[in-house]
Amino acid sequence: MTESIKANIEWIDSTWGKIDKKLQKVAVRSRNKLPYTVDENGVHNDYSQDKIWWWTNGFFGGMMWLMYAETKNDTYLQTAKVQGNLVNKIFENYNWLDHDVGFLWHLTSGAQYRITGNLKARTANLLAAASLASRYNINGKFIRAWNGQDSENLTIIDCLMNLSLLYWASDEVKDNRFSLIAKSHADMSLRDHIRQDGSVNHMVVHDKETGDFIESLAGQGYAPDSCWTRGLAWAVYGMLISYVHTGECRYLEASVKCADYFIQNIKSFDWLPPADFNAPKEFFAYDSTAGACTACALLELAKHVPWEKAEVYADAAIRTLKAIDEKCANYDESIDYLVNLGSLRCPREDIKDAGINMPIIYGDFFYVEAMLKLRGNDFFIW
Ligand code: GLY
Repeated sequence: MTESIKANIEWIDSTWGKIDKKLQKVAVRSRNKLPYTVDENGVHNDYSQDKIWWWTNGFFGGMMWLMYAETKNDTYLQTAKVQGNLVNKIFENYNWLDHDVGFLWHLTSGAQYRITGNLKARTANLLAAASLASRYNINGKFIRAWNGQDSENLTIIDCLMNLSLLYWASDEVKDNRFSLIAKSHADMSLRDHIRQDGSVNHMVVHDKETGDFIESLAGQGYAPDSCWTRGLAWAVYGMLISYVHTGECRYLEASVKCADYFIQNIKSFDWLPPADFNAPKEFFAYDSTAGACTACALLELAKHVPWEKAEVYADAAIRTLKAIDEKCANYDESIDYLVNLGSLRCPREDIKDAGINMPIIYGDFFYVEAMLKLRGNDFFIW
C-alpha cells in the first residue's frame, strides 16, 4: 500500500460508506433501467427501450458487479443479473453490435462469469468477443469503429478499453487469434493515436488497404490536434490493460507516457479535468468521468512501476478523486447519480452547450472502481 493511500484511509472509509449506503437504494430503484444520465429531479433515465444499443449500457450492471465483488450484498447481485439480461437483448439486432461490445458485455456477462461461473454469461461474453474480432481489418491491421461505409477506415482511441474482452476470450478458449487481433490493434494505437508528448488523437482516418495514417479528426475533442481528456483516460487505462494481459512492456511504457501527460496538465485545473486540455476558455467544460477513469488507471499503474513512481501515481489518483468528492459527488440517497460534471464531449463552435457538465453513468462506474482499488479489492473487471 502506498503512503498516500495509508494517509487517506479515513477519507476512503467514510467515502466508501456513503457510496455503499446510497447505491443499495439506487440498485433497487434502477434495477430494470439501463441508465445513462438523470432527469431534472436526479432520477435515472432509461435506455432499455429506444436506445438499448447505446455503448454505455453495460456500466450500471458493471458497477453492480463491482459493488457485489466488494460487499457480497444480494441487492447488488440481483440488479447485476437483471442488467446482464437487458444487455443480452442487444444480440437481437446485428446492426446494434459495434466496437464497443466490450463495454457492454465484458462489464456485465464477463464479470458475471468470472464472479459466479455462470455458463450462459460465458457464452454471451464469447459471442461478444467473436463479434469484436470480426471487425478486424486484415489489410489495415486495425479494428474498425462503428458500422456503415463512412466509418470503415476509422479507428478511435476508446476501442483500447474493449480489448480486454479479446484477451479474456483468448485465455478462455485457448485460441490466441483473439489476443493477436487485440495486440495488432493496440500496436496501431501506439503508432497512430498516441503522440510523442503523451497526448492523444481521438479519431484517426486510415488508408483501409495499408492501415497508413491519413489524418486525425477532432471527434469529441476540441480540435484534431488538441487532447480530449477522456480520450487520454482511455489511453492511460487501455494501454495498461494491454500490458496487464500480455506482459509486453511497450504498452506499459505508453500508459506511463500518457499518465505523465495527464499529471503534468491536471495540476493547473486543480485536479478536476476539463473536457479538453487544449480548449480555449470560452469552450471550457469539466469532465469528471475522465478524472475518475484516469484515477483507476493510475491506481492500477502504481502496481506495475517502481515504488517512487507508484507514490506519484497513487497521490495523483487520490487528488483527482478528492476533487470529484469535493466538487461534484452527490451522496444524497434520494438522488440516483453519484458524480456530476461529466461531459459527453468538449464544446466547439458547432456543438456548444450540448452534453456538458452533467452526470453520466460511466463517471459513477469509474468512481466506484477507483474506491474499490483504494480499499484493496483486487477484482480486475477489465
Ligand atoms: N466512447 C465514447 C466516449 O468516450 O464518449
